[in-house]
Amino acid sequence: MPTPAPRAYSRLQIRLHWLVFGLLALQYILHEPITEAFDLVEDGLTPAFSPLVAAHVFGGFLIFALAAARLYIRKERGVPPLPDSDPPLQRMAAHATHYSLYALLIAMPVSGAVAWFRANETAAEAHEVMRVILLALIGLHVAATLYHQFIVKDGLMQRMRKGDPV
Ligand code: HEM
Ligand code: HEM
Repeated sequence: MPTPAPRAYSRLQIRLHWLVFGLLALQYILHEPITEAFDLVEDGLTPAFSPLVAAHVFGGFLIFALAAARLYIRKERGVPPLPDSDPPLQRMAAHATHYSLYALLIAMPVSGAVAWFRANETAAEAHEVMRVILLALIGLHVAATLYHQFIVKDGLMQRMRKGDPV
């Protein structure tokens, strides 16, 4: 018999959600050094070591690992069902947004790594296009959360605040 879905996210799932949020914010805010370094790579030069460039690479790998961990936990433990009040189309949109977010959390580091370690311009272009799509999806996700919180008033925000111990 399949195990029933949990009634809430676990504390670990919530911590990982907010940790990835913080790391992503840093990737966007501190992107300038890697962009400049990559300009040098494109010109066939070798950029000098920069801690902020290393932080972008390491931060991106960390996001990759944490996103993979989140997907694993999601599969093993499950997630609470979407609010009952959501119409079917809205549920589909919520699932599509969540899975697209996970896909981009994996694809961004992969494209970045191919661009950086193989000096690959196509991967760099993909990285640039995806950073815009990721930002748009995050905007949509936040707007949906605020809609639930302040218009539907179903307390959805609580689901990412207080979790079950396991
Ligand atoms: C970096 C930005 C963010 C990313 C990548 C992200 C990603 C995600 C993903 C993938 C889920 C689905 C989790 C799952 O079921 O496996 C989720 C759920 C959720 N997120 Fe975010 N999130 C971000 C920022 C935010 C922010 C800023 C808020 C608050 C305004 C927020 C509030 C929530 C809430 C309340 C849920 C639970 C939704 C539900 O259970 O239906 N997220 N987030
Ligand atoms: C989720 C993880 C990541 C996010 C959100 C992210 C985000 C960004 C952003 C916002 C930019 C600036 C783009 C621009 O200037 O137009 C950028 C550039 C870049 N990132 Fe990332 N990045 C991530 C992971 C990585 C990783 C792991 C690497 C390398 C191992 C990497 C390598 C690069 C390179 C080479 C550029 C310059 C591309 C260019 O100028 O065309 N990124 N990244």
